[in-house]
Amino acid sequence: PSLPPVVFHYVPWLGSAVSYGMDPYKFYFDCREKHGDLFTFILIGRKVTVALGPKGNDMILGGKLSQVSAEEAYTHLTTPVFGKDVVYDCPNHVFMEQKKFVKFGLSLENLKAYIPMIFEEFDTMLKTDDSFKAFKDGSKEWSSFPALKTLGELTILTASRTLQGKEVRAGLDKSFAQKYENLDRGFTPINFLFPYLPLPSYWKRDQAQKEMSDFYLGIIEGRRNGESDHEHDMIASLQNQTYKDGRPLSDREIAHIMIALLMAGQHTSSATSSWTLLELAANPEVYQRLYDEQVAVLGQPDGSFRMLEYDDIKNLKVMDSCIRETLRIHAPIHSIFRKVISDISVPQALSAPSESGQYVIPKGYYVLASPGVAQMDARIWENASKWDPARWTDKSGVAAKAGEQYENNAGDKVDYGFGAISKGTESPYQPFGAGRHRCIGESFAYVQLSTILAAFVQNMELKLEGGVPATDYESMIVLPKHPHTIHYRKRQP
Ligand code: HEM
Repeated sequence: PSLPPVVFHYVPWLGSAVSYGMDPYKFYFDCREKHGDLFTFILIGRKVTVALGPKGNDMILGGKLSQVSAEEAYTHLTTPVFGKDVVYDCPNHVFMEQKKFVKFGLSLENLKAYIPMIFEEFDTMLKTDDSFKAFKDGSKEWSSFPALKTLGELTILTASRTLQGKEVRAGLDKSFAQKYENLDRGFTPINFLFPYLPLPSYWKRDQAQKEMSDFYLGIIEGRRNGESDHEHDMIASLQNQTYKDGRPLSDREIAHIMIALLMAGQHTSSATSSWTLLELAANPEVYQRLYDEQVAVLGQPDGSFRMLEYDDIKNLKVMDSCIRETLRIHAPIHSIFRKVISDISVPQALSAPSESGQYVIPKGYYVLASPGVAQMDARIWENASKWDPARWTDKSGVAAKAGEQYENNAGDKVDYGFGAISKGTESPYQPFGAGRHRCIGESFAYVQLSTILAAFVQNMELKLEGGVPATDYESMIVLPKHPHTIHYRKRQP
């Protein structure tokens, strides 16, 4: 059996790093034109085989534990940031138990309690952030805020107040923020490509990891000694968890899981809320529909809004469709890697396996899935590159024939995902991934995103000058390019 075709490149070791790094989606779509759904490219000395489309997603995200490893692909990036013995620094079965503990902590009861806390943080920001001075003063004039910066702050403030716990929230006003910054600067594509370089950013990262870990340890010990009580947060939940063999989670493991959750949720959620608000500001008719929906579901006779409740979220269909659609064309994660740990045999034509020979992807290669490619594929979605939330509330928005279904590798029938998000590994819509490494933060992210969005819609009109920004692929996450200024005006009674 032969190897998958290799993408042409001029410089041997560098390979396609530049075109991939500048715009990974353009790179994937261009390569697909030439080579089909399966091809290999060189990335700074690594051989990376890309598998596109729902079948490619299935091959990688549904891959066998004996063939593909997430920990071998990620540990050199994540372990210096999260710390030891968690996530990709432990055997996969241990991490799977850790994911279960976290899921337990994201209980319905906790999620319900978070909504009013998120509104409170929003109100505090309106009162204290310079960008919202016009709002505070009750001005009728338009003013503006930088989307990514504002939403980044709101995301970390609200995640701290809710999931992370009040000690972390209090720390954000003090020393914690700087530690977080230093850790974050050590979580970039450069760190992924070069695990250790003798650079200040690497030393600061390592220092910040130690201090952050100790900070959480202090919280955990303080709580055990009854120095402070807690609300509904994750630390409290993790302190009660034990592995199947009876061993409780150690304090260090709890600390490191908390850091992992902070990092996993921060840029993914803040990118999503930024893109959603940018798209809404550019689409006033959708923003009006969103406002009308808030009035219909939460409006009071005196013109105010009652508090959003968890059960309202499923009735706010326009809001749901705006978030869903944003995650379709601005999925925060554009590339998902695994290391190949034993040779994989795959059909040369992924979508017509019976008519083709086999390729082998050898041990030592990486494989890469990009669910975003299927999410923006014009063969699957009508007007694929248009941000059009109505496609989720109106079946005619999808190009595939009505009733057409995929079968995933577990034998489940998976539809194109009208309404319900498919959890299968073979689906054209996977912003949260699929399979054993699928996201566990989705329910929290939806609560956080919905609440922040509702707060903006209820309080402000928005507009954009110059259209939705282009995409910046320089960091690990799909972000809007500068400037991403959103103009707002306080809604007048
Ligand atoms: C995994 C996306 C928010 C925690 C993933 C994966 C994706 C993803 C694509 C799969 C990665 C892979 O297969 O290698 C997102 C998006 C988010 C979001 C789009 C927000 C809009 C969150 C939040 C948390 C979180 C808020 C924590 C509270 C995790 C964890 C994993 C994960 C623990 C598992 C990694 C693994 O099993 O290897 N996420 N995520 N995520 N996410 Fe999220």
